[in-house]
Amino acid sequence: MVTLIVKDVAFGYASAPVLAGVSLEVGTKEIVAVLGPNGAGKSTLLKCIDRILHPQHGSILLDGEEISQMSRLELAKKIGYIPQSLAHAFSITVFDAVLMGRRPHISWRTSEEDTEKVLDTLKMLHIEDLAMRDINELSGGQMQQVFIARALVQEPDVLLLDEPTSNLDIRHQLEVMHTIKSIVRKHEISAIMAIHDLNLAARYADKIVLMNGGGILSVGNPATVITPENIRLVFKVDADVYEKEGKLHVVPLRAIVRATQG
Ligand SMILES: Nc1ncnc2c1ncn2[C@@H]1O[C@H](COP(=O)(O)OP(=O)(O)OP(=O)(O)O)[C@@H](O)[C@H]1O
Ligand SMILES: [Mg+2]
Repeated sequence: MVTLIVKDVAFGYASAPVLAGVSLEVGTKEIVAVLGPNGAGKSTLLKCIDRILHPQHGSILLDGEEISQMSRLELAKKIGYIPQSLAHAFSITVFDAVLMGRRPHISWRTSEEDTEKVLDTLKMLHIEDLAMRDINELSGGQMQQVFIARALVQEPDVLLLDEPTSNLDIRHQLEVMHTIKSIVRKHEISAIMAIHDLNLAARYADKIVLMNGGGILSVGNPATVITPENIRLVFKVDADVYEKEGKLHVVPLRAIVRATQG
C-alpha cells in the first residue's frame, strides 16, 4: 500500500530553483533513504513533505489527501520530522523535550499514557539515564537520540529524518537504524531519511532515492541504485561496491580530480 506520493514537485528559494520534477512513492513499512551530495536538495525535499516549505509546483499526498489541505494539527499527528541541525536555545529537560513530541495528541493536559510513552521510548533508545538532564548539556550524539525519541513518541504515520545518524558513533548508528526499522515494521509506518552513509543506507533502506542537482537520478533497491557508476556520476568518487553475505558494501577509493579552471 502506498502512503506518501510526491508528484512532480518543484521548489526554489528566492534566489534559485532547488527541486525540479521530483516524484516519489513511499509505501507502508518502507524505509526510503535519500542520498546525494551536499546541496542536492535532500533537506529541502523533507521540508516540503513536512510543509515547512511550500512547493511552487506539484503535489504531495498522504493516504490520498493533499498535505496542503490538512490542518497543522492533523499533519503533526501524521508526520514526524527530525531536522538536520539540532540547535536548542532554551533550557529544558530531556524528558520534557521528548514529551513535547506528544503535543499533537494531548488534549489539555498530559496523561499517564503520555508519560509512559516517553519513558518507554527513552528506554528503547537506551537514553533513560539522560531523562532529567538539560538538553543543552548533551553531546551531539545524545542530542540526536533525544530528537529521534521526540519524533517516535509522536507516533506519526511517516517519519522524516534528516541525517539521523550524523553525530552517532558506530554502535549508536546501528542501534538507531535498527530501532527505526523495527518501529517502521511493527507500527506499519514509513520512514524517509536523508543520509550520507552509503553503507548504512544500503543495509537498512528498502528503497534508495539518489538525488543530484535538485532532481532524482535513480530510484530502486540498494543494489540497483548504489553502483560504482552512479557513485562516480553523482559524488565524483571512484568506489568499490561488492556484496558479501547478502549485504552491500561500499568502499570509497578516491575523489575524481576536479578539472582545473581557466
Ligand atoms: N534557506 C535557504 N535559502 C536559500 N537557499 C537555500 C536555503 N536552504 C538551502 N538552500 C540551498 O538549496 C540547495 C539545497 O539545499 P539542501 O539543504 O536541500 O541540500 P542537502 O541535499 O540537504 O545538502 P546537505 O547534504 O549538505 O545537507 C543548496 O544549494 C542550498 O544552498
Ligand atoms: Mg541537508
